[in-house]
Amino acid sequence: MLSKEQNERLTKVGPGTPCGELMRRYWHPVAASADLVKNPVKRVKILGEDLVLYKDRSGVLGLIGPRCLHRAVHMEYGIPEETGLRCPYHGWLYDHKGSCIETPLEPPDSTFKDKIKTKAYPAREMGGLVWAYLGKEPAPLLPCWDLFGQEGGIRQIMGHMIPCNWLQVVENGGDPGHGVYLHGRYFQYVLEREGKLSDDTRHRSNAALSQHQELMKRGAYTKYRTIYNQYGMTKGVMTSDETEDDVNWQVGVSPVVFPYLRNPDRGAGIRRVYQIGVPLDDTTTWHISYHAYLFPPEIEVPKQEVIPYVEVPLKDENGNYIHNYVLGQDMVAWYSQGDITDRTEEHLGVSDNCIIGYRKMLDEQIKVVEQGGTPINVFPDTGDGSRIDHSPVTWREGRDGSQYYRYNYHQKGGAGRTYMEDDVDGYCPDKDLILDLYRQTAELGRNKAAAAQPASPVAPE
Ligand code: FES
Ligand SMILES: [Fe+2]
Repeated sequence: MLSKEQNERLTKVGPGTPCGELMRRYWHPVAASADLVKNPVKRVKILGEDLVLYKDRSGVLGLIGPRCLHRAVHMEYGIPEETGLRCPYHGWLYDHKGSCIETPLEPPDSTFKDKIKTKAYPAREMGGLVWAYLGKEPAPLLPCWDLFGQEGGIRQIMGHMIPCNWLQVVENGGDPGHGVYLHGRYFQYVLEREGKLSDDTRHRSNAALSQHQELMKRGAYTKYRTIYNQYGMTKGVMTSDETEDDVNWQVGVSPVVFPYLRNPDRGAGIRRVYQIGVPLDDTTTWHISYHAYLFPPEIEVPKQEVIPYVEVPLKDENGNYIHNYVLGQDMVAWYSQGDITDRTEEHLGVSDNCIIGYRKMLDEQIKVVEQGGTPINVFPDTGDGSRIDHSPVTWREGRDGSQYYRYNYHQKGGAGRTYMEDDVDGYCPDKDLILDLYRQTAELGRNKAAAAQPASPVAPE
């Protein structure tokens, strides 16, 4: 439970707010690069600030104040020129630093334009996203966490516009226990309502519940702890009747890279995922499911010119929220808690350890900024394009997938492919291609296994 003041301190992101000042020390995604290919000018919002993003004809990105300073026409209707964005009304031209560089209807010797400067922030492209920095200069390094710089493989970006505060989204990722009910019992209920309930024990909903029931039968429960590391935290998870030397307890699972990047896949297997909950304003979060499918080197993967992006609707054609896939269920948890959930009314138990752990880290980092310091994951930009090496503490080596119940319950009796039928992967723009590459990989595995079989002994004559 938090006081009203603490709740506001941790959630509000506008200029001048404690959390908003912390957030202004980081780069944030503001658009998908694929969107700028379709239209080089886009109205965007980030940390409560309305802005216009554009790419001019020489390829320079600009992120400037939303309205022309002449007579307030919205710059989303601007015309990208060789340099800068031109207001469609009387042709004032702004460059990426916000300077007005032409007022063409004024007399040729007018210096009027020199007094005109609109808001402008740095913007850069990385990994198929456009990133913006709204803080004080100099801008820090834009950290290229692994998947953003991934070579090869197929990347896909799926977005959801969530009508609630960003902290609810991060807190869901800090809550490893919810799978039993939200992706187990609730998933079952949704399938029941749709007339699709199955008793196949490999289905996610059934496996999650039956594993939990087995646990309860032997009087055990799942324990959680927060494990901090240099980039954020992981969640230590163990069964109460097992020993504490398990890697899931010692190193933890599903890292949170501060402030809001989550990496739930443990770095194993073909499918790698970042979940990124970007605060557009206090009550709107752009959730990005950033996927990379990394196939073995023997599989020929087409080169991607542009990483595709799709915005996935929250509701179906009848106006009902879509809950029949895992991320859709997570979203129930996010938006149904309210615009900004009232944490003065909550009752946290011991299973909420990692929620408390994340809030503590957030509060500490806000304090660091209040005291003039540099929060974690803000690195100086040395201009050499340096890349952050990930830490073995945050990204664990994967183990045999069969050890993870998550892998088991994602499998669907031979019909489909891991995650494609019950998670946001079903919305991948290149779903068919990815399924084909999965098929080729399976075939490769079968061929390798057959080649490794010892030759049949030759019958004596
Ligand atoms: S309103 Fe933009 S140039 Fe006049
Ligand atoms: Fe979930």
